[in-house]
Amino acid sequence: MTMNRRTLNTALAAAALGGLLPASVLAQKKLVLGFAQVGAESEWRTANTESIKSSAKEAGIELKFSDAQQKQENQIKAIRSYIAQKVDVIAFSPVVESGWETVLREAKAAKIPVVLTDRSVNTKDDSLYVTFMGSDFTEEGRKAGRWLVEKMKDQKGDVNIVELQGTVGSAPAIDRKKGFEEIIKADPKFKIIRSQTGDFTRAKGKEVMEAFLKAEGKKINVLYAHNDDMAIGAIQAIEEAGLKPAKDIVIISIDGVKGAFEAMIAGKLNVSVECSPLLGPSSCRP
Ligand code: AHR
Repeated sequence: MTMNRRTLNTALAAAALGGLLPASVLAQKKLVLGFAQVGAESEWRTANTESIKSSAKEAGIELKFSDAQQKQENQIKAIRSYIAQKVDVIAFSPVVESGWETVLREAKAAKIPVVLTDRSVNTKDDSLYVTFMGSDFTEEGRKAGRWLVEKMKDQKGDVNIVELQGTVGSAPAIDRKKGFEEIIKADPKFKIIRSQTGDFTRAKGKEVMEAFLKAEGKKINVLYAHNDDMAIGAIQAIEEAGLKPAKDIVIISIDGVKGAFEAMIAGKLNVSVECSPLLGPSSCRP
């Protein structure tokens, strides 16, 4: 994990100093945290939820938890309900980057500090949240690109890549695409011939890969998936098409979840760039 590693209490202290929160809140015995989770779209997300829940419990924080099922309107509703319940802190992992200003202003007006975890927002007004804790998604995309460049260094002809993007408008989808392209653009032999969202899920990853295979067939040399779950779904599609994953098609993904390690051990996935979901301890450290 890179970026700001301030703990929740540090975030609270910063909020108190900034006049957002009465210092007396800091002395309270039990903090109430409202956490608006993205959903349960992937193995990574399940591990992230577990990390938040167990860390809050360990730290003696009362956790109010909601699952937005990958819908921004559900997250906004959850945040508004936390504001109405006057929680001490709101934390959330924004499903997409934009469209948060109004609700963040409402939280600020209610003097409730907001902590962003995992994914960030693209507001120009940094005073709308206290801190961000998460990974550098652009660097993850670059790592995936660097691995591919090295792997294909002796290949003379075109390298045809299909890309399974994460949720449209989400920080990891935008940044992982950007980082990967930044690296591969140095050599024109790398060509992204198809790119479509698989919404970070196995089912969509499989469905979109089936469509890629139907359209491009054996022309595909590489699959770049923005997360492991989509890669695992795509592996099924590749096998069903009678091809060998990780051999006929080189497969790169991101996360490093258990399912990805199992696929690598089985020789069906070439590489997964690590992205830690264990944000609970740094968010809830007493
Ligand atoms: O925001 C992190 C991403 O969201 C993970 O890479 C992906 O698996 C999850 O759904």
